[in-house]
Amino acid sequence: MISRTLAAKELTLFFHTPKVNPFNFWVDPFRALFSTTHIVGDKPILVRDFIHSALYDPQHGYFSQRSGSVGVLERSIKFNQLQGRKAYMKHLDKIYKDSAVSWFTPVELFKPWYAHGIAEAILRTANFSVPLKIYEIGGGSGTCAKGIMDYLMLNAPDRVYKNMTYTSVEISPSLARIQRETVGEVSSHLSKFKVECRDAADRSGWGDVEEQPCWVIMLEVLDNLPHDLIYSKDQSSPWMEVWVEKQHDRDTLSEVYKPLQDTLIKRCVEIMDLDKSQTTQSGAMSKAKSIWSKIFPKPQRCWLPTGCLKLLEVLHGALPKMSLIASDFSYLPDVKILGERAPLVSTKKDGWSSDYISYLDAKGDADIFFPTDFLFLEHIDHYCSGWLKLQKDKSSKQGKKRRTIILDTSSFMEEFGLPSKTRTKDGYNPLLDDFKNTKFYLSVPTHNTK
Ligand SMILES: C[S@@+](CC[C@H](N)C(=O)[O-])C[C@H]1O[C@@H](n2cnc3c(N)ncnc32)[C@H](O)[C@@H]1O
Repeated sequence: MISRTLAAKELTLFFHTPKVNPFNFWVDPFRALFSTTHIVGDKPILVRDFIHSALYDPQHGYFSQRSGSVGVLERSIKFNQLQGRKAYMKHLDKIYKDSAVSWFTPVELFKPWYAHGIAEAILRTANFSVPLKIYEIGGGSGTCAKGIMDYLMLNAPDRVYKNMTYTSVEISPSLARIQRETVGEVSSHLSKFKVECRDAADRSGWGDVEEQPCWVIMLEVLDNLPHDLIYSKDQSSPWMEVWVEKQHDRDTLSEVYKPLQDTLIKRCVEIMDLDKSQTTQSGAMSKAKSIWSKIFPKPQRCWLPTGCLKLLEVLHGALPKMSLIASDFSYLPDVKILGERAPLVSTKKDGWSSDYISYLDAKGDADIFFPTDFLFLEHIDHYCSGWLKLQKDKSSKQGKKRRTIILDTSSFMEEFGLPSKTRTKDGYNPLLDDFKNTKFYLSVPTHNTK
């Protein structure tokens, strides 16, 4: 099984059971209110602005309207009581049928063990000479926050739990409300916990620079951050940035290509090219490539994590001593949208999940989520910390090299979690065996300038 993507799909294939129709009564009126052409006004907009509206428009965005966009399990799954994979899949199928949500994220499916693994990683690494300060971005239903605080209450030295703070930065008002309720189930957490309902990528929300060490957690957030799209008509032509505009009939949208001018896109392309410049081609090779592209021109499309670049620039600026724990999809199957690092645009109708073939069809009724290229993420992190310089960058700011590691989910959970808790009777362990398309990225500050 592959998390979030295959959960619903594979289950229905597995059991051939049509799903119930929990959405019918409200999807259609909702659609009547919002169409993609409402997102775009008279002037063209960048693809990232289009995606931002489709997901986070306060009225109609997928995450703003649908508190059910992030599922909450009523009770934890008792893995030890299930026989094996078949029993687990049957159980999941029932959960999906009984709930109106599209996806359950790993922190939810494996609660409380997934969050406990993250708490243990913090406990083993944090510097407790200063009060523990945790920020979570995009905390969804609050399950991670509650799990981490529960774990620290029971396992950390008393003063650590007593003096800690946990701040959730959540863009969706409906999810922010749910987070308060989830964490509020344990009254002693409440004095340490707060939710700030805002866009974490907006620097103004962070206030003054926080000079103390702190932790930032982001689970399945990078995949939902706005991305840009660049296009080139063949393998050797320059990249163009993609904008979206209304056609003359005002009902359909189309793409417009412009020379690179947006500074965020340009920075992202430069960071991406750093990778390629390390494997420089010989002159003869690039000449051959150019001739080949004239004979067999093939249009190129490439999705850029500009939302991630913006967020990390903001975080490094506001929290220069942060330690970061992020987990996300490293790969997505069956993607129908074209381009490198292309997203899935997935909706659920009549109880069935289906994918749109164009991102321009997303109307607030669809999740748009991207795979994360973890090496690219590492480069972005080093660039935003000031350590990695771009060629055109003349700034003398001396950044510190961060210590970073990319781990498979199974390796992370084996190291910090309690794998025995998610093991079924016959030894099958969905957290370790199935979540092959997700990884963890850990990044901590150091004093090294080299
Ligand atoms: C796929 S959900 C993941 C929720 C939760 N972390 C989990 O794993 O269950 C993505 C979350 O990120 C939030 N989010 C996305 N962009 C954000 C931003 N710029 N600032 C704050 N929250 C954001 C969404 O509202 C949602 O809560």
